[in-house]
Amino acid sequence: MEDTAPSSIPRAFWPETVAAWSEAQDQLFRSFWRSGQPLKSMLENNPWLQPPSLKEPLVWGQGGYWDTAVGREHAYWQDQDLPQATQDIVQMRKDFARWGYCLIEDGLSPAQCQAFLQRLLNQAEGEMAAGIQQITPSGQYVNTLINKGDQFAGCIQHDPRAVQAGPLLEQLTDETLGKGWICHSFLANGADPGGYPQALHMDQGPLLPWVTEEAPALVNTMFIPQDVDAWNGGTLIIPGSHKAVIDAGGGGVIEALPPTINLEAKAGTILFFDGRLIHGTGVNRSDRKRFVATMSNVKPWMRTQENWVVSVAPDILAQASPKLRHRLGFQALTYGSTVEGFGLAGNGRLEDPWGDIRTFREAVDQGDYERVRSLSGSSSPDQLQRNYTVGQAMRRAKAGHKRQKT
Ligand SMILES: [Fe+2]
Repeated sequence: MEDTAPSSIPRAFWPETVAAWSEAQDQLFRSFWRSGQPLKSMLENNPWLQPPSLKEPLVWGQGGYWDTAVGREHAYWQDQDLPQATQDIVQMRKDFARWGYCLIEDGLSPAQCQAFLQRLLNQAEGEMAAGIQQITPSGQYVNTLINKGDQFAGCIQHDPRAVQAGPLLEQLTDETLGKGWICHSFLANGADPGGYPQALHMDQGPLLPWVTEEAPALVNTMFIPQDVDAWNGGTLIIPGSHKAVIDAGGGGVIEALPPTINLEAKAGTILFFDGRLIHGTGVNRSDRKRFVATMSNVKPWMRTQENWVVSVAPDILAQASPKLRHRLGFQALTYGSTVEGFGLAGNGRLEDPWGDIRTFREAVDQGDYERVRSLSGSSSPDQLQRNYTVGQAMRRAKAGHKRQKT
């Protein structure tokens, strides 16, 4: 590196000076970022929400959050009007607003459901056999489903051939996140026999201590391909807990919460839930694996959990529809996913050629991504005439733009 350090740096920029003027009480936003809220108060005011030790056998009969029942058998909840699986979108909106979730009855048809489950079980077995299984304290996870079966790309696109409730899910997701949202991740969450409960959390937790008070920034869609209940690890949920989070507000305090329930649902049901709802994987006390699959979706400027632009298989990308490419983050826009500045002029809409970053991924796949490095007017002809990938992307966008106009 060229040494451009001045011979005498002003004293105000010396690390010692900066440190001396940065006492804890003087720092910007320190109490907010360090508050640990609202999770800290959630645990202080609800000690039964403390996760179990993974070094000791799981304890039952002492009121742990995992030690519960389905809503209709729970003394606290059985008389409350908790969401029931339905195909009525009007009821779903009411349930979602009041309880933080709704249940879509037969969101997967019996055939879709069977194919979905079989694929998950086979894949889980294959990953075990290959020695690349991803095991959590709750059970095996199968990640990046898009590369592991045609139906999963269909689910991300809300294609009714893969998920018959697709159009309804798309409508609810558009309403919740605003159009233009992208897919955060799509993976199968296993609760294996003898596993531990997941610590209760909210899926938009990475935003904390910020809390979005109106709409969530993340919404989750859980595909339930086999019956779930209190025995086989039905998801633990505190119904309506999104409201306690909203009431706490950014950096605020969560007061006493009502108890958890285990989700009870028939195979084929889809759970659609608010990113602020407090929930976690339940404990599977049966002797068979239990899988659900979660597809979270987020605002298009957020960093996605799965880095699809790296992971999606080339053949799947080559066949992907504009909608799928958009949901995987291949449609750059001014504030997200630009590559060497390409995409800053993108509007984020499907098929906008000025946001299509496939050129870069294809160049990576072909091993000929040519990045722009240090240049000047007097750089060598070889450097100036190189087939830069960003130049290719710009030419492709111009051609696409013309095509769209004619
Ligand atoms: Fe979660």
